[in-house]
Amino acid sequence: MTAIRMDGRALAAKLRAEVADDVRAFGEPVCLATILVGDDPASHVYVGKKHEASHEAGIESRDHRLPGDTSESDVLDLVAQLNADEEVDGILVQLPLPDHMDEPMVLRAVDPAKDVDGFHPLNAGRLFLGEPLHVPATPLGIMALLAEYDVELEGRRAVVIGRSEIVGKPVAMLLLAKHATVTICHSRTRDLAEHTRAADVLVAAAGRPGLVTPDMVKSGAAVVDVGVNRTKSGLVGDVDPAVAEVAGLLSPVPGGVGPMTIAMLLRNTLSAARYRRLGVALPGS
Ligand code: GUN
Repeated sequence: MTAIRMDGRALAAKLRAEVADDVRAFGEPVCLATILVGDDPASHVYVGKKHEASHEAGIESRDHRLPGDTSESDVLDLVAQLNADEEVDGILVQLPLPDHMDEPMVLRAVDPAKDVDGFHPLNAGRLFLGEPLHVPATPLGIMALLAEYDVELEGRRAVVIGRSEIVGKPVAMLLLAKHATVTICHSRTRDLAEHTRAADVLVAAAGRPGLVTPDMVKSGAAVVDVGVNRTKSGLVGDVDPAVAEVAGLLSPVPGGVGPMTIAMLLRNTLSAARYRRLGVALPGS
């Protein structure tokens, strides 16, 4: 079997065009503010792409880039200023923050209504309770890819490798909300392959290049590769490309989940604007 490639670039382009239409129809300015502290080159690239995509979708953006030695209280002051700014609909603090900062504390400072990353504990709690407001963009992108390729979830076995707050935990909640039987595996899981071989849907978000090999995958399974591992040979996923010989569907790296994250961030930003200005919640979007 050679897996069908789940084309995140194509789907993301379609979704971004839809967001652009919806922003026009909304008729009021929509604004995303980002905060990036330090000089991590990958973060600068990601944030640059987020601004470019916002601009294309007709979303205004403010780009706050601060030196790596900025104090935590200065970052908290900026967050407070953006929270209070009526023109700002969404706030995104790019991670990782420098080591001298208490990352969870900074994320807790963002107004939950403007938390387009969905990282605030109140948004994480709402997702847990099945009443989502803002949901992290990468998990939303994974779910949109699975939906686009008609992957059935109800009653099926989904295995997530990775338990991060950004991907593993929230995607497990979203899969559960679609009535999948969900297993979360992680670095302490014994006999990982025993779990993954049972998966109809496998989401690899461990941050370990080539972790998932063909012998670990059930024939015909849908495999979503969330890995973004920068190696000497370039960007590689958590899934060995040879898995394409076993899987039914496979998302590539690059060109799978990555572009979906940005499309979903734009949707979250429009959703935050609607929610704040109209009091209308669009659950999970
Ligand atoms: N760093 C890596 N992924 C993300 C993300 O989705 N949002 C933010 N804010 N930072 C990240």
